[in-house]
Amino acid sequence: MVAVVGGGQLARMMAEPAAALGIPLRLLAEAPGASAAQVIPDHAVGDYTDLATLRRLVAGCRVVTFDHEHVPTGHLHALEDAGVAVRPGPGALVHAQDKAVMREAVARLRLPQPRFRAVGSLPEVVAFGLPCVLKASRGGYDGKGVWFVRTPEEAEPALEASALTGVPLLVEELVDFRRELSALVARSPSGQAAAYPVVESVQRDGICHEVVAPAPGLSKRLATSAQELALRLARELDVTGILAVELFETTDDRILVNELAMRPHNTGHWSQDGAVTSQFENHLRAVLDLPLGTPVARAPWTVMVNILGRTSEQVGHLYDGYPHALARDPRLRVHLYGKELRPGRKVGHVNAYGDDLQECLERARHAAAWFAGELGDESE
Ligand SMILES: Nc1ncnc2c1ncn2[C@@H]1O[C@H](COP(=O)(O)OP(=O)(O)O)[C@@H](O)[C@H]1O
Ligand SMILES: [Mg+2]
Repeated sequence: MVAVVGGGQLARMMAEPAAALGIPLRLLAEAPGASAAQVIPDHAVGDYTDLATLRRLVAGCRVVTFDHEHVPTGHLHALEDAGVAVRPGPGALVHAQDKAVMREAVARLRLPQPRFRAVGSLPEVVAFGLPCVLKASRGGYDGKGVWFVRTPEEAEPALEASALTGVPLLVEELVDFRRELSALVARSPSGQAAAYPVVESVQRDGICHEVVAPAPGLSKRLATSAQELALRLARELDVTGILAVELFETTDDRILVNELAMRPHNTGHWSQDGAVTSQFENHLRAVLDLPLGTPVARAPWTVMVNILGRTSEQVGHLYDGYPHALARDPRLRVHLYGKELRPGRKVGHVNAYGDDLQECLERARHAAAWFAGELGDESE
């Protein structure tokens, strides 16, 4: 039995391959009716920052893994001491929890990344040089905790937030990137690893909107070096499960590490339908130290587009999108998370795979926009 902490869509999507492989999951969800709690019957509702709750969750489980990176490190050590395999382990996970720790580790390994520094005051930010990007070292996601700073005044909100929360700030050079890439690998405790094709991801306001697998036009040299970089990070940091390395492809043809995630990642959702073995299945295989499945693509192109909530008026209407979306495109793959639409919230995604990139883009974009209620009355 595998224990999973966190009731979001990532845990929900682990349940599908878990069912296929006959692996029982036990879930700790934040709230009743959470996305994953809807599909994992063996679940408890509780607080993942409470050690006693975590101990109850893992009782009788061989392995515990995660839907998010927020479980306190001390608790993870306590679970390990109690004999449960924590995957990824606390020593690895800290690099996905703390951007400052991650930057130092990437620097130690001499891997390419933006220039950075820990900062605590406006003069330090100005001395580093503007424009720059300020980041909360811990607790950020989907662009929350990231500030683009062109003038000294624009640094104020970040400094205020840091003073209020006590979370240290990191400053980075503003990278002039051509696009964002993601290199995803699965790695098992015994050291087997599998590298997925490198993908292009399109972020808007810090939220992943679209992923194209493989990244169009990416040179063989950069693709291979991105995969090697991700495999090296997974090995050196002793990651178990999925590691996603978010990358920048710069306008002068380099790749730089942006950040790390140690769990299935939005930039790997394409693999559910576009790869022989999905990231969710390989995450489970990896944390159980089972042989990994091949990550190779099933089709020349796969496009993933997220379905994002726009307005609260749409609550409850997501499934109304089915008749048109499914009739228009019988090859479309739809993944909804059982969540209510809220502005900016990821409530599902669609995958379209095939031989023609433009056609896949059109199909996936149309369906996602349709579900999100952004299109008119084409069906009428
Ligand atoms: N140093 C940088 N230069 C330019 N853009 C950046 C930089 N760091 C982050 N970004 C942009 O902000 C987005 C969110 O930053 P990231 O560190 O990945 O935070 P999050 O934890 O919210 O995903 C990135 O996907 C990228 O688009
Ligand atoms: Mg990111």
